[in-house]
Amino acid sequence: MNGAIPETLAFDIYGTLIDTHGLIAMLRCHAGDNASRFSQLWRQKQLEYSFRRGLMRQYQDFSICTAQALQYTCLSFGVSLTENETAALLNAYRALPTFEDVTEGLGNARDAGFRLYAFSNGKETDIVQLLDHADISRYFIDIISVDAVQSFKPDPLVYRHFLEKSAAKAENSWMVSANPFDVIGAVSAGMRSAWVQRSPDAIMDPWEIKPTVAIHRLNELVSAITDWRKTTFR
Ligand code: 2OP
Repeated sequence: MNGAIPETLAFDIYGTLIDTHGLIAMLRCHAGDNASRFSQLWRQKQLEYSFRRGLMRQYQDFSICTAQALQYTCLSFGVSLTENETAALLNAYRALPTFEDVTEGLGNARDAGFRLYAFSNGKETDIVQLLDHADISRYFIDIISVDAVQSFKPDPLVYRHFLEKSAAKAENSWMVSANPFDVIGAVSAGMRSAWVQRSPDAIMDPWEIKPTVAIHRLNELVSAITDWRKTTFR
C-alpha cells in the first residue's frame, strides 16, 4: 500500500457482499413464477422505507423496514403468509448467501494491508448473523451499523458515524458498495468510493457525483484503488 496511512474500507453488506435475491427458491413456494419480481419489489420497498424513515426522522431499525416491505409485497402480489411462513422468511433473510467473489475479494484486500469494516443499514445483531453464516466475520475489524445514530444511508450523519467509529480520515476511506445511493452518499460526505457493478445492466445514477472507481468483481478492488492512487498522486 502507498505511504504510511492504511486505507480503510467500508464494505456495504446487503446487495454488495450478501445477495438480497438469495431466497428465490423459498419465494417460489409462495409466489410461484413471480418469485423473482416479488424479491425485487421486496428489496425496493425495504430501501424506500429506510429512505422515507430517514427523511421523516421516524426511525425503526432495518429489520422493521424489511418486515414491513415483505408485508407490502405480499399485498401487492396477493400472497397471504401465515405467521410461521413470515417468520421463516425473515429468519432466512438473516442467512442470505454471499456473492461468489466475496471471500477471495475480502482476503485480497486484507492481505494488501487495508483495514476492513462492515458498514450497513442493518442492525448489528443481524449483520453478525449474516457474516457468521457466510463464514466471513474474520476479515473485519468491526461491524459499524447505522442503528447507533438512528438514521439510514445516505444521510451524511451515518458516514460521519462510520469515520468516527473507525477513527479514519474521509480521504483515506473507501465505501465499497453495489448500491449507487450508497456510493453517491459516501462521496458526498467526503469519502472515496468503489462502485461494484455486479451486473452489466446495473446503472449508476447520472448525477454530478461519481464513484471514485468502478469495478465488476471484488477481486479487482485492490488494483483499482492502487492504480487510482498512482495516477491521482503521482
Ligand atoms: C446496507 O447498508 C444499503 O442495504 C445496504 O447493507
